[in-house]
Amino acid sequence: MKRIVVLLSGNGSNLQAIIDSINNGNINGRIVGVISNNIEAFGLKRAQKENINTITINHLDYENRQAFDDALLKKLAILAPDLIVLAGFMRILTSKITDYFNGKIINIHPSLLPLYPGLHTHQKVIDNNDEKHGISIHYVSSELDAGPLIAQGNFNVGEIKDKELLEEKIHKIEHLMLPLVIQYICIGTIYLDVKSNNVVFKNLDVINGSIQKNYEI
Ligand code: GRF
Repeated sequence: MKRIVVLLSGNGSNLQAIIDSINNGNINGRIVGVISNNIEAFGLKRAQKENINTITINHLDYENRQAFDDALLKKLAILAPDLIVLAGFMRILTSKITDYFNGKIINIHPSLLPLYPGLHTHQKVIDNNDEKHGISIHYVSSELDAGPLIAQGNFNVGEIKDKELLEEKIHKIEHLMLPLVIQYICIGTIYLDVKSNNVVFKNLDVINGSIQKNYEI
């Protein structure tokens, strides 16, 4: 069983999707810890309900990013994860952590990267009258919302000008794709070749080096 650690800062609906998939037997792994920088994150409650070990490391207690990451690295090292999932974790990790766990950290981001790294992705899609919006799952490097791409799920925006509605559709896609990618990683169907920094997909259909899916939602 692969050891999974989830890092989050908020609601944790993606954590819930992972928990549900594990409970349904669709992920051959177990969550050995949920870590949050936000003591009020609802995701912590979701984890506790499942008797999953939770850890809070309040970033406000630390002088700078490096000090926070040192504390985080200590906790992570004890948990000895095979996979770390950033699921709405609103902190930028320093290279100390991304190098230590190179090839073991994935992030889910609500845009079709390289479009719109950072925040307010739904608003940017509306402002730019984009035809498509979607989500990206990628291995994490020290660069924000960058790193080798694993999968993207997109949908047609149509006439939607409502941020909340876009977000709702984004979540639906995230909750389908993230557990699937985690399972592929757990069973070794997807991994990062750290020497070449390329994602390897075994017997999976990829387009330009990543999984691409269109959702009619
Ligand atoms: C998701 O949209 C994810 O893409 C982004 O933050 C959001 C987290 O949502 N990084 P939740 O906390 O999992 O509900």
